[in-house]
Amino acid sequence: MTGMKYNLSEKVVVVTGGSRGIGLEIARQLLVENARVVICARKKEGLDAAMESLGQSDRVLAIQAHIARQEEVEHLFERVQEKFSRFDILINNVGMNILTASLADTEPALWQKIIDSNLNGTYLCSRKAAQLMKTQGHGKIVSISSLAARKSSPGMGVYGIAKAGIEMMTKVLASELAASNIQVNSVAPGMVKTKFSEPFWSNEQLHQEICKGIPAGRIAEPSDVVHPVLFLASEGASFITGQTIVVDGGQSIV
Ligand SMILES: NC(=O)c1ccc[n+]([C@@H]2O[C@H](COP(=O)([O-])OP(=O)(O)OC[C@H]3O[C@@H](n4cnc5c(N)ncnc54)[C@H](OP(=O)(O)O)[C@@H]3O)[C@@H](O)[C@H]2O)c1
Repeated sequence: MTGMKYNLSEKVVVVTGGSRGIGLEIARQLLVENARVVICARKKEGLDAAMESLGQSDRVLAIQAHIARQEEVEHLFERVQEKFSRFDILINNVGMNILTASLADTEPALWQKIIDSNLNGTYLCSRKAAQLMKTQGHGKIVSISSLAARKSSPGMGVYGIAKAGIEMMTKVLASELAASNIQVNSVAPGMVKTKFSEPFWSNEQLHQEICKGIPAGRIAEPSDVVHPVLFLASEGASFITGQTIVVDGGQSIV
């Protein structure tokens, strides 16, 4: 889908983890919508490549930040205010997984690392965004969860627990911020074709096995996730809050 659809013109949107995958495609579509976009990631090379691919303009800003580090999150939002003097929408897109053993055999340091980037980072960004949005009297927060939040699967346990935490955070923030005209929602995708899930879809036999369990018969492309996210970020979704939209081609209903 191309062209403007969500009435996001001039909105200032922070997309965490916007240097590749789903986040980069969200940033690209936001620019089509004439929004102003800030992407962040840990690695400068990834951000440079993303800026190149987004076509370097004064409507987009890339900031190096590890979202689990509070001082880097503070710096991120300071830069947003400096550059654009306003802030409307936060897309909590960062997520990472390191395949783990069973919970009983997972080292606490690995647990901490996965919880930090997925759950603590989402908390730190949402907390800062909520403070700014409350002073301006409006805002939207959309977080990327996962089917892993709802179903236990091997190697994904800690990640799933973190994502389940994000879905509960969505409800808590939504209830606390509704009176301040701030809506908070999530999108929970099944498998999406990005670097994150490459070990699964790049193995043709495994890929076919996975597709058999999806009524739509295929895994998602990033664009399948982008549009539900942009809808939830738009004024059209202003009476929806505390919800998670599952985007999985029917995988969770069979
Ligand atoms: N792909 C899937 O199958 C799938 C399925 C369900 C849900 N999801 C969720 O969808 C979201 C996007 O995933 P994706 O597939 O697009 O992943 P991806 O291709 O691996 O991209 C992840 C992005 O997040 C950044 N990042 C990772 N940790 C970070 C941190 N601590 N601080 C700042 N930036 C960080 C990465 O850049 P750096 O490495 O440079 O930091 C990159 O820009 C995630 O929340 C993921 O959990 C993905």
